[in-house]
Amino acid sequence: MTPEISEEIATRMAVDPQAHAEDPRAMAFETEFPVRPIPARGPVATGPISLTPATGDDRLWRAIEPELRARANDIHLPISAAYAARLCDAYPQADRELVMVAIILHDTGWAHVDQSRVISEGFRSGGDWRKQLIRFEHEVEGCKVARRVLPSLGYDQAFVERVCTIIDGHDTRLVAYSLEDALVRDADRLWRFDGPGIALSTQWTGLDVTTYLDDVERRFVPELITEAAVQMARQDLDRHQALLRTRLS
Ligand SMILES: [Fe+2]
Ligand SMILES: [Fe+2]
Repeated sequence: MTPEISEEIATRMAVDPQAHAEDPRAMAFETEFPVRPIPARGPVATGPISLTPATGDDRLWRAIEPELRARANDIHLPISAAYAARLCDAYPQADRELVMVAIILHDTGWAHVDQSRVISEGFRSGGDWRKQLIRFEHEVEGCKVARRVLPSLGYDQAFVERVCTIIDGHDTRLVAYSLEDALVRDADRLWRFDGPGIALSTQWTGLDVTTYLDDVERRFVPELITEAAVQMARQDLDRHQALLRTRLS
């Protein structure tokens, strides 16, 4: 059955990706950080992510317990949050609280979309993964979760909207609007290079691990916006290519 497309989603899907690049926020970010990938100002930790201490506000993690059950969010979100914490150390000029809240919430919307389409449409339908209807839906639903849970935790309206600006478009928009947006994007992509991300993604995509690692190296390393994330990805890749014996002579 073809899913019904709401007017709000249809409007988002119709936007030319080039329009985002011409958004004043994207252009200001480009001007502020002309060197890419953006050089780190602080320490860059590249060891196994499992060595990073638990992170994020316990009250927020508790508030999204139902959403953690969807699409392996209980694995994806904590690991992405750990990468985000490392990236905040490397870019101390970023608003750490904004980055951490946004990364913890960014995929909660997966819990509120048609579960029967999450893998089939989100990973295996061919074409551009960023343009799938379900991708737009999970971003819109994630903003609804943020607007529902954050005010009761004491966050004001302005902060909630800054979080939603990052969640809205985190997969489907090609460009970042701020350093915080960039750190969330990079943290979200970095989990693909870690063990649990490799295991889940190969299941979801149906790819063998050698093809998968070649694919993320080719497609996702160039997308990383920060130099710290590139270093983390390369180290994770090297470790897992050796561990999983994907480079046999
Ligand atoms: Fe997402
Ligand atoms: Fe994600």
